Amino acid sequence: MSRTLRTRVAIVGAGPAGLLLSQLLANDGIESVIVDQRTRADIEGTVKAGTLEYGTVQFLIQSGSTPHAATVAERHDGIEVWFDGEPHRLDFPALTGRHAYLYPQHSVLIDQIATRLGAGQDLRFETTAVAVIDSDQPVLRVQDAEGAYDIVCDFLVGADGARSIVRPVVTGSSHGGYFREYPYAWFGILAATTRVSKELMYSASPDGFALISQRTDTLQRLYFQCDPETDPDAFTEAELWAELQRRIPGKTLQQGPITRRDVLRFRSFVASTLRRGRIAIVGDAAHTVPPTGAKGINMAVADVVLLAGSLRELLLYGDERPIDGFSDRAMKRIWSSQHFSWWMTSMTHRAPDADEFDRHRQLGELRTLFSSEGGRRYLAEYYVGWPFETVDGIWSAPLPAVAA
Ligand code: PHB
Repeated sequence: MSRTLRTRVAIVGAGPAGLLLSQLLANDGIESVIVDQRTRADIEGTVKAGTLEYGTVQFLIQSGSTPHAATVAERHDGIEVWFDGEPHRLDFPALTGRHAYLYPQHSVLIDQIATRLGAGQDLRFETTAVAVIDSDQPVLRVQDAEGAYDIVCDFLVGADGARSIVRPVVTGSSHGGYFREYPYAWFGILAATTRVSKELMYSASPDGFALISQRTDTLQRLYFQCDPETDPDAFTEAELWAELQRRIPGKTLQQGPITRRDVLRFRSFVASTLRRGRIAIVGDAAHTVPPTGAKGINMAVADVVLLAGSLRELLLYGDERPIDGFSDRAMKRIWSSQHFSWWMTSMTHRAPDADEFDRHRQLGELRTLFSSEGGRRYLAEYYVGWPFETVDGIWSAPLPAVAA
């Protein structure tokens, strides 16, 4: 093994978390290297969800990570939740003074990657992390087309997703943490059609959950609740449209060719700790939520905001206290988001063993929540997100100008 590379921070994973971290470190003059086993085209071409909190987008813009967000991210002032056969709208600006954004993750990544490469970031695609060696100077062993080599660093960060290679080193076992399985999954389709509505529609129908989301003016993302064992190829296109339409009876869906279909299993997970010594994990490497409410990328950004400040204090000033407190502080927001994702799921999905009591109780909860302004505000605040905790205190994005 002839090549050895030295850097201050080694980051595994060129996802939203790893790329934002390298940006924040660079803003503080701290050098980093990012490795990712995928090709750039792969990362940029995988169409993923993207309902982003107000503060997430404002932070991404302010940090310089996504300079084009202001033109690409689409402002969403509300969602519709369907139950009792009709829509119930949450008006985000009226309830919270803020809004959410539809900003699909691959668009975030395209902007982040171009920005980092433009700034001279050492970003290595098709480079697989094969081993992590824990020490005061952690070592990341990687493999690329030319062979294996070591990256020696002052701090190592796993932003490498749910199948993280770094996580077991931090938690002490591949399963160290808290789990919850769910008896349902989402059947997702990408359809080449025009938009059904301007806003996202969540439906808690007697036949189970459905969600209408969007990617572009001509590409829509729709989901319906299904059994986790469902075979994605078991339905014809006509059957899929019929199933979706059955769950949103009050709205006529535009049908079109289905270009992708998949079954998304649900899982909640929070790692027992986010840090051990000079190694930390963030984003999906540290936690997983069910997709309802789309908290995933927002949680990753919140972790990184706190970690970047902790690393600045450690690496520039030798102050260990922020990194010592990082995991406990990050966990507070992680568990809030974990609760929200679990709650939105349980409030809108139909469990396979649910009886009429469960169904009426669920409707009781939805009606109570939506009939009071306090209830609507509670849900809207969760959806548009909270201020970020940073090492220096709370960071609140400036509020949007109020339309005259
Ligand atoms: C999505 O666009 O894929 C999406 C949107 C909102 C959610 C979950 C997923 O709550």
